[in-house]
Amino acid sequence: MKAAVYYETGAPDVFRYEDVPDPTCGPNDVVVRVEAISIEGGDTLNRLGGPMTSTPHIVGYQCAGTIVDVGGSVTDRSVGQRVVATTPSGSHAELVAVPPVVTWVIPDGADIVAAACVPVAFGTADDCLFEFGHLEAGETVLIQAGAGGVGLAAIQLAKRAGATVIATASSDDRLDRLHEFGMDHGINYSERGWVAAVRQLTNGKGVDLAVDSVGGRVLSGSVRCLRYRGRAITVGSAGRDPQPLDISLLAAGNQSLTGVYLGAEIATERARNMIGRLVDDVARGELRVVVDRTFPLADAAAAHAYIESRQAVGRVVLIP
Ligand SMILES: NC(=O)c1ccc[n+]([C@@H]2O[C@H](COP(=O)([O-])OP(=O)(O)OC[C@H]3O[C@@H](n4cnc5c(N)ncnc54)[C@H](OP(=O)(O)O)[C@@H]3O)[C@@H](O)[C@H]2O)c1
Repeated sequence: MKAAVYYETGAPDVFRYEDVPDPTCGPNDVVVRVEAISIEGGDTLNRLGGPMTSTPHIVGYQCAGTIVDVGGSVTDRSVGQRVVATTPSGSHAELVAVPPVVTWVIPDGADIVAAACVPVAFGTADDCLFEFGHLEAGETVLIQAGAGGVGLAAIQLAKRAGATVIATASSDDRLDRLHEFGMDHGINYSERGWVAAVRQLTNGKGVDLAVDSVGGRVLSGSVRCLRYRGRAITVGSAGRDPQPLDISLLAAGNQSLTGVYLGAEIATERARNMIGRLVDDVARGELRVVVDRTFPLADAAAAHAYIESRQAVGRVVLIP
């Protein structure tokens, strides 16, 4: 098969488009012929400096396609089914082998490119807001990096749950795109004073919940945006900013900070069902996947570079 591989981590130009051996179908696996690859935020970070489990390494958490082989012990999947699949690595390829527990059947008639973008972004957003963030109707939530994959999912889910949604992005143009998804107030966090601007929107009180996928200085700002007894969720480091958070900020306000990692939950029945509902909601048009641009798999380097230029709103998708 063809795959976008790299022999060392680094800038997008580490990608090579090469022939590699097809994945083998273990007794507990299905093999998926990939039709759409959603480039996740974690894929760009892994390419930049993440672990390499093989040489060459095929990066990538998520893709969708059609099952072409089923292992002998698999009873709940069949050849010809369309699924979206998650995997620790390997999505940037024409074929991927995964256990069925991390596949979700795509409803008939649903767009496979949109479905390819659902489990990690929407599942993570859902867990940040509800399972770990305990968001309730009437509360105010701050969603950092609202134009990213997790951010756009979180805006829609929080609005649907009856929350007031404040979101951030690095430009006013990017914020303008977010109103139609349920953002009530947009804050440009590339400008000084954005923490004060968030607090002002809550009459000085602060937000009930902050969902932070950016980390570093932005995470410190998230904590400073909280109300008394407010909750912050740290779920990523898209900002590539290693500055540690001073956790002593939390005590005076009886505030909490919770880390969220979907990967540790994704194979549980709870998370599987939650993601299944989200795949169905997208298929019915109740939630929207935003695909900014598609690239051929052969152009993975250009696609990753485009994401890192911070122009993309929503997902960038590779097509094998
Ligand atoms: N823990 C988990 O289970 C889990 C699951 C999914 C994702 N994540 C993590 O969450 C983060 C976001 O994921 P995602 O899929 O939403 O990513 P994404 O779609 O690529 O969006 C990332 C957003 O971060 C913002 N950003 C801030 N600083 C940036 C920088 N230096 N370079 C690039 N973008 C920057 C960008 O918006 P602006 O330009 O508007 O700031 C961009 O829209 C990643 O760190 C990812 O690893 C964690």
